Amino acid sequence: MQFSAKVSEANKQRTACAIIPVDAKNRLSASGTALDEACGGAISKLLKRNDLGSRVGATQLLPMTEGPAERVLLVRSGEGVLSQADFRKLAKASAEAVKGYKDVFSYLTELEVTEADSAWQAQQLALAAGLATYKFTRCLSNAKPHALAKFQVHAPDRKQLKAVKDGVAMGAAQATGSNVARELGNLPGNICTPTYLANQAKELAKKHTKITTSVVDAKKMQSLGMGAFMSVAKGSDEPPALIAMQYKGGKAGEKPVVLVGKGITFDTGGISLKPGQAMDEMKFDMCGAASVFGVMAALAELQPAINVVGLVAAAENMPSGRASKPGDIVTSMSGKTIEILNTDAEGRLVLCDALTYAAKFKPEVVIDVATLTGACVIALGNHATGLYANKDELAQALIKAGERTGDRAWQMPLWDEYQSSLDSNFADMQNIGGREAGSVTAACFLSRFAEDYTWAHLDIAGSAWNSGGNKGATGRPVPLLMEYLLTK
Ligand code: BES
Ligand code: MN
Ligand code: ZN
Repeated sequence: MQFSAKVSEANKQRTACAIIPVDAKNRLSASGTALDEACGGAISKLLKRNDLGSRVGATQLLPMTEGPAERVLLVRSGEGVLSQADFRKLAKASAEAVKGYKDVFSYLTELEVTEADSAWQAQQLALAAGLATYKFTRCLSNAKPHALAKFQVHAPDRKQLKAVKDGVAMGAAQATGSNVARELGNLPGNICTPTYLANQAKELAKKHTKITTSVVDAKKMQSLGMGAFMSVAKGSDEPPALIAMQYKGGKAGEKPVVLVGKGITFDTGGISLKPGQAMDEMKFDMCGAASVFGVMAALAELQPAINVVGLVAAAENMPSGRASKPGDIVTSMSGKTIEILNTDAEGRLVLCDALTYAAKFKPEVVIDVATLTGACVIALGNHATGLYANKDELAQALIKAGERTGDRAWQMPLWDEYQSSLDSNFADMQNIGGREAGSVTAACFLSRFAEDYTWAHLDIAGSAWNSGGNKGATGRPVPLLMEYLLTK
């Protein structure tokens, strides 16, 4: 899909569909009025019939017989200055309504939004349009591609054009990255194995000169002493992979941000087997890894002057004669020993070794992304990603990045008081806390392997995919991460 911005004259702008805001009192924006005149007042006449709903984000499609637009999509914007959340509603609703047309032109940037300029609006519009066109078709025998090929955004004036263009590019890249993450997330476990992910990373490096990929395989893991990582993989016939993708856009000496993704390509629970109900959703247990791939793809598109390393800890968690058992004790790469009391708490076991490995890149900051705990879903539901950090400044930056792009995170405590729940009778620590505060104690476990650098942990167990009727990966937190990387 092609994205662009220009200062448009709506009375002349040819398009398959023009998107026009209408306020609570049925008033059109400046461009809407110009377009209305160009089509003989048809828009204002039809508006008087009051078929456009009054709810913010309501849409109505008008086929046109005159004027430069083949169709006009009216979008209800409401009273006065819009909140950012309401603007996002408009962006999403309009994108859904026009995704069947080939080229569309959005004039929603003429609206006024609280503490947001037209560049921000353009970014949100491009992101919503990019997200709306995604569909998982890889495993259908018959699929037709979506129609939307060109999405254009109106820049209110020349002065803002450059900023609006940058906003469009950022939104488009966030959408590209989110859709890459969704596709990998949606792929079933029999296709998307650790080896498949490693191959994807190698492909990425082939296509983009600024990206290089290396893979730590089982043998190398053994020699590095990654006993925790290996303990998860050993029950599966699929070999594990610790994948490193380096995006080098900045100066050679500049410290990178290292992203670490949990990549359990299927989580049965292992010997601590999960119940059968909805177990298929555990194919999504690599959505953290998928978001790291998404960020890499977005960086490749935008080419910013920064350094980022994407680490993916990929393994399959299976029960078998070779699988780890409750009570087993393993030694992590850090030297710390871990008593595995529950083999279903496997994410932290692969991540702890990946976090130790991350130090080798001399990171400025390390952020891990993981579908880590069911407890996080209980605590926050689907709307917020759980956020933990060992430096408050980093936590604040991530919260802000999430709010700007509508991919929000909520900070949870990482207090010392929670640490003792990981005390073991037989090893340096055990891999589970008690029944209480499950998301917090999982983060506490990880924090023990991230003491040497500034670190944050994003628990995306609730935000990474939707269940039920529209089951599928969301691509979160790619927008949050991209926003953070480019504005930090
Ligand atoms: N991948 C799961 C977490 C999960 C469960 C995410 C459901 C989304 C929905 C993780 O590996 C896991 O099984 N965690 C256990 C930890 C427990 C054994 C301490 C959990 O949350 O039940
Ligand atoms: Mn598990
Ligand atoms: Zn898991």
